[in-house]
Amino acid sequence: MIIAVDGPAASGKGTLARKLSKHFDLAYLDTGSLYRAVALSVLSAGADPADNDAALQAAQALDLSTIDETAIRTAEVSDAASIVAAMEPVRAAIRDLQREFARSPPDHKKGAVLDGRDIGTVICPDADVKLFVEASLEERARRRFLELTGRQGDRASALTQTDVLADLRARDARDRNRTASPLKPAPDAHLLDTTKLSIEAAFEAARDIIDLAAP
Ligand code: C5P
Repeated sequence: MIIAVDGPAASGKGTLARKLSKHFDLAYLDTGSLYRAVALSVLSAGADPADNDAALQAAQALDLSTIDETAIRTAEVSDAASIVAAMEPVRAAIRDLQREFARSPPDHKKGAVLDGRDIGTVICPDADVKLFVEASLEERARRRFLELTGRQGDRASALTQTDVLADLRARDARDRNRTASPLKPAPDAHLLDTTKLSIEAAFEAARDIIDLAAP
C-alpha cells in the first residue's frame, strides 16, 4: 500500500504521515529532507543555492544514511531547499531513489507513506490513497514559529512570527509557481484542511479516508 501525503510547509503533513505510517505499519519517507540535505550540502560547501551545477552535484552525491536531521531544519536550509527543489535536474537526480523506496520499502514493510509536494502527482501517481493537507498561512506560521523557537532556544530570540510568515509565503510561492513538479493537489487527492484540527483529529480524519479508500 502506498499513501501519498502532499501539502505546503507546516501544514501538518509530516506529523500526520509519520502517525499514519505507524498506525498502518508502513515505511515512512520525508522527501522534504532530501531537498533539505541537498541544500545543506550546497551551503556547507560555501556555494550559492541558486548555482545549478553545485545543486546538481550535491543531489547526485546524496546519501540518505548521512542526513543530519538537526542541521537540515534551520530557516536558512528551508529557504535554500525550495531554491534547489525548483531545478528539474536536481529533482530528476533524486526521483528514482524515492520511487525505489515506495516500490521496495525497507524493513520488509508492506508499503510506504511518502510526504512531500509531488508524491501524488509525479513520484507515485498510482498511490492507493492521496492526501493533500492544507492549513491557513497564519496557522502554519504559528506552528512553525513554535517549532523553531522550541528547537533553537536563544538562537531564535530574534525571530518573530511575522518573519516566519514571510518566509513561508515566499517558499509557498516558489513551490506552487515553479515549472518543475509544482505543489498542487492530484486530481484524485482527498483534501484535508488541518487549520482547526488537533494532531489527533487530523490523524483520525486521514485514517477514516484511508480505511474507506483502501479497505
Ligand atoms: O517538506 P519540507 O518543508 O521539509 O520541504 C522543504 C522544501 O523541499 C520545500 O519547500 C520544497 O521546495 C521542497 N520539496 C519539494 N518536493 C518534495 C518535498 C520537498 O519540492 N517532494
